[in-house]
Amino acid sequence: MRRKQIEMRESIIRQMTILARETGAVNLAQGFSDEDAAPEIKALAMEAIRGECHQYTDVRGAPYLRQALAEKLRKHNAIEADPDKHIVVTCGATEGMMIAFETLLEAGDTVLTFAPMYENYVLQSVATRIHVKSIELDEHAEPGKPAFTFTRETLEAAYVEGTQAILFSNPWNPIGKVFTREELQTIVDFAVTHDLFIFADETYEYLVGPGREHVSVGSLPGAKDRTVTIISMGKTYSITGWRVAYLVAPEEFAAKLNVMHDFHTVTAPHPFQIAAANATRLPESFYQRMRDEYWARKEILCAALEHAGFTWYEPGGAYFLWCRYDRLSDLEDVTFGKKLLLEGGVAGVPGSVFYERGRPRYAIRFTFSKSRKTLEAAAERLRNLNWAAGSR
Ligand SMILES: Cc1ncc(COP(=O)(O)O)c(C=O)c1O
Repeated sequence: MRRKQIEMRESIIRQMTILARETGAVNLAQGFSDEDAAPEIKALAMEAIRGECHQYTDVRGAPYLRQALAEKLRKHNAIEADPDKHIVVTCGATEGMMIAFETLLEAGDTVLTFAPMYENYVLQSVATRIHVKSIELDEHAEPGKPAFTFTRETLEAAYVEGTQAILFSNPWNPIGKVFTREELQTIVDFAVTHDLFIFADETYEYLVGPGREHVSVGSLPGAKDRTVTIISMGKTYSITGWRVAYLVAPEEFAAKLNVMHDFHTVTAPHPFQIAAANATRLPESFYQRMRDEYWARKEILCAALEHAGFTWYEPGGAYFLWCRYDRLSDLEDVTFGKKLLLEGGVAGVPGSVFYERGRPRYAIRFTFSKSRKTLEAAAERLRNLNWAAGSR
C-alpha cells in the first residue's frame, strides 16, 4: 500500500475555531458572521425551496443564475461575460480555486502571490503540487509611504522560470488592502509580458470601506484573455453555508474548468443557486447597509485594540484587522495567539499562518465579521488584558 507523501495539514484557522469553542474564548479567528443571514436572504432561500429546483442543474450552473451573474458582472465589475461561455458556478470559491489550479496548471508550475496571503493558497497548492512563491510586501510603513505597496520592479524581482500565474485576493485577506486601479494595471502589464494567468479572488468585492472603490482586474485593458476571476457569494450575503461561488474566465478555459468541476461536485446546490441569483438583484441599499454595519463594528474592535496596546494596518476592505502586538509582548505569533486565547479569552489567527512556513512572525489577525454582541464581549476582554510590556 502506497501512502501519499504530501505535506497536507488542517487549516490553523479552523483549529483556532475549535480551541475557542472548547475554552469558551470569543472567536475572532474565522472570517464569517456568527449571526444568521438577513431575513430577506432567508426568504429567497425559502422561496427557491418551494420551487422546482431540487435535481441536478447544468454543470456550468443554473442558467437562471448565470444570466443574473452576467448582468451583475456588467454593472458591478465592468466585465462583459457571456453566461453560456464565460461563467462556471462552483461549490464555494474554495472549489473554484482548486479547479483553477488543477485545470490550468501543471504540477511543478510556479504561482506568484503576495504575502501575507489567504491560508488556502498554500494548502491548495500543496495538494495540487504547485509551487506558490510569495512576494512579501513590507508592513512597516516607511515615512510617507503606505505599507503593502509594490511596483513593477517588485514583481519582476519575484519572477522565476516556470512561473505560470499571479494570484491575489482583492480586497486582500488577511490585511484588508484594496488594490488601486494603477496597481492592478501593473499586475496586468507584468502578466502580459510574461504570458501569465491572473487568478483574482474577489470574494470580498462588496466589502469595501467608505470612499473606497473595488476594481475588478478582469475589466482592465490586457486582462480579459488571461484572467480567471473567482468570486464567492458567501461573504457578501452572509451565506457561507450555501456554497455558491463562480469563476469568470475566457471561453477556452471556462470549458475546461467546467469539466474539472463536473468531476468534483457536478453542481453547487441547485435551490441555493436560484436564491443566490435573486440575491444579486437586491437594491443597492442592502449592500450599503451591510458595509455601514461592518464598518461600525470595526470601530468597536479598534477602540478595544487600541486600549489594549495593539497597532494595525488600516483596512480599506474585507473584514479583518492585521495587528501588531510589539507593545504587549515579544513572543512569536503562534505562542502569543495561544496565550491570548487561553489567558485573554480572545481568539485571533497567528500571522505566520498567512506566510509560507519558516521565519517566526509577530502579527495577529482579528475579524470584525462577528455580531456587535460578540465584538463587545471581545472588546471587554481585550480592555481587561493586563499585559503591560514586561509580562511577556
Ligand atoms: C480570500 C478568500 N477566498 C476564498 C474564501 C473561501 O470562500 P468559499 O467559502 O466560497 O469557499 C475565503 C474564506 O475565508 C477567503 O477569505
